[in-house]
Amino acid sequence: MRKVRPGVVWAGALALVLLLAACTAVAAVSITRRQHRASSAASCDAFAAGRWVVDESYPLYDSSRCPFIRDEFACARFGRPDKMYLKYRWQLDPPCAQPRFDGLALLRMWRGKTVMFVGDSLALNQYESLLCMLHAAAPGVRTTLTPASGKIDPSSTVRFEDYNATIVYYLTHYLVDLVPEKSGRVLKLDAIEQASNWLGADVLVFDSWHWWPRSGPTQPWDYIQEGNTVVRDMDRTKAFTKALHTWADWVDANLLHTDTKVFFQGISPSHYKGSDWGASPKKTCMGETMPVNGTGPYPGGPIPQQAVLKSVLAAMAKPVYFLDFTYLSQLRKDAHPTKYDGGVFAGDCTHWCVAGLPDTWNVLFYAALTGQL
Ligand SMILES: *[C@@H]1O[C@H](CO)[C@@H](O)[C@H](O)[C@H]1NC(C)=O
Ligand SMILES: *[C@@H]1O[C@H](CO)[C@@H](O)[C@H](O)[C@H]1NC(C)=O
Repeated sequence: MRKVRPGVVWAGALALVLLLAACTAVAAVSITRRQHRASSAASCDAFAAGRWVVDESYPLYDSSRCPFIRDEFACARFGRPDKMYLKYRWQLDPPCAQPRFDGLALLRMWRGKTVMFVGDSLALNQYESLLCMLHAAAPGVRTTLTPASGKIDPSSTVRFEDYNATIVYYLTHYLVDLVPEKSGRVLKLDAIEQASNWLGADVLVFDSWHWWPRSGPTQPWDYIQEGNTVVRDMDRTKAFTKALHTWADWVDANLLHTDTKVFFQGISPSHYKGSDWGASPKKTCMGETMPVNGTGPYPGGPIPQQAVLKSVLAAMAKPVYFLDFTYLSQLRKDAHPTKYDGGVFAGDCTHWCVAGLPDTWNVLFYAALTGQL
């Protein structure tokens, strides 16, 4: 995992995250999808059966007109010279129908509703892309940002006033509670008090993973606690699994009998190791301007924690739609901010430019929301 300079702790807090997927199996457990699959003879895995093709109508919006893009994602603002990364559309193989995004329809659908992205900076990445896509669909729309500074503490909200639609980002790296105590900062694998802030949302999109492997100065906790047992450390995948179960139990206990739609973002891949895509191991995403050429498996293979995530989701009572973005994102070594991020991370191969890849995530998110997938 990349080291983050201590001086950018806040930005660091927004930094890593996501899950890697790459498996072709679909662990999504959306009722919508199950019904769709049951009723159509041929099955369609929109997240695996596709390819990146150049589409001259892309990007879906002009990022210079979007008022919501933070520096760390604002590649065009900081002079990224190449533009091809903006031109790729995820083309689904037959029998999948090509999903269609309709921002105005989405704003109308969300009238009077609250949509909340909950997680680390990869959730923020998708959130900001979605704000731009909605804003582009209704260019004159009145929006209100709260707090006006844009500070995320722990949340940030944009209201589309003319549609009475509220779109929230809630920052949490671990989903479970991280509590400052006298002894130090305690990561509580079986406590999720902060989830009370997520009640009342009509649509929830979660993610977690990127912060679990952190150690050293960028690890934001001192102890891990489960029940009465406090330890200095433990296997991070095991800790992640326990936290996911705590999260899943909370969702089942609180959202099973509600209309709230729940989504989970697949782990977002980073590109710091060229050998993952057949280049030299020392190569990173720096200077990459083209996707990985291929429709086969990603050479670097799936992200192991993605399997954990799939199995936890599959065992839940509440249907949770798994937005399995890992594989299609693994192919996009060209889509990271690299050095065009205003100096926030000086070489970022974890996040994604906005406009860019997260727009495709949102096309698929919209397709899932509207039963197209
Ligand atoms: C906006 O939506 C909220 C939540 O559904 C509702 O209580 C409120 O009355 C709505 N306001 C307007 C102006 O429609
Ligand atoms: C990908 O590889 C195929 C076959 O080798 C080639 O025809 C095609 O031009 C390549 N595409 C890109 C984007 O490099």
